[in-house]
Amino acid sequence: MTLSGTPKRYGVVGNPIAQSRSPFIHLEFGRQTAIDLSYETILAPLDGFTRTVQEFFEHGGAGLNVTVPFKEQAFDLAHAHLSERARLAGAVNTLWMQDGQLHGCNTDGVGLLKDLERLGHPPTGKKILLVGAGGAAKGVVLPLMEAGCTLLRVANRTAERARDLRAHVAGQVPQLAPRFEAGSLDEAGGPWDIVINATSSSLGGTPPDLPRNLYAQEALAYDMVYAARPTAFLAQAREQGARHTADGLGMLVGQAAAAYRIWHGRMPDVEPVLEALRRELHYT
Ligand code: ATR
Repeated sequence: MTLSGTPKRYGVVGNPIAQSRSPFIHLEFGRQTAIDLSYETILAPLDGFTRTVQEFFEHGGAGLNVTVPFKEQAFDLAHAHLSERARLAGAVNTLWMQDGQLHGCNTDGVGLLKDLERLGHPPTGKKILLVGAGGAAKGVVLPLMEAGCTLLRVANRTAERARDLRAHVAGQVPQLAPRFEAGSLDEAGGPWDIVINATSSSLGGTPPDLPRNLYAQEALAYDMVYAARPTAFLAQAREQGARHTADGLGMLVGQAAAAYRIWHGRMPDVEPVLEALRRELHYT
């Protein structure tokens, strides 16, 4: 609460944004931790992200989540005060003001790690295939490596993009290079303990064109996208022998929890909010 009794103002900015579950999640976290807050969705014009962010903070905004397609622009805006994670990811999903300065962090990687742990598939000691080399993949490469996977391979439809991503990370953290591979989808090899889909293919309803025999025994197939029904990638994974599958709803709640901790200094409980969201999405 502010002195005047008005709840502090938070929000998420993107384009499109109407579908966002973040208001529900943050208001639930607020209830849980007895913090009074407001949280809104903000549609920024594709050419008006900077102006939208400036207006939000000029009008009393305290913290802002950033989603597609603005995470790279948020990184540029907060360039003077970036967390290590944001700097290495090249993307920002959490903004806040501190001493009159805009700060940025990326909590997507932490959200994924927490969810993999929750699912009983922590990355430590695992061989992981990361499919995709766009913004979503970039944000999770380093957290996965730092969590101690023995090998991480990025496979992308455009192989050059995967190799560029590897070169970028290896340039910044050279000691990771020996456990980091990159290439095309058909070079994906296997077997892998965890296969993570970070492509936008599920949004289009077609799975990435992956070779067979990717999955080790007890492997987990994880789609960063979430939906009421299994995504095209998860359906393909089941069909190709993945024993366990999960969508990205847990990652969504996990990244929100990490942002909440930055803003409010309290770590909320993810589980009840995740259950409520599942019910809302008509999950069983
Ligand atoms: P995002 O920020 O969501 O990662 P992006 O930067 O546009 O968005 O990246 C989209 C990713 O999904 C890329 O890795 C893209 O592959 P290309 O680099 O070859 O374009 C991948 N992608 C999208 N649709 C795909 C499909 N049908 N099959 C395989 N990969 C796909």
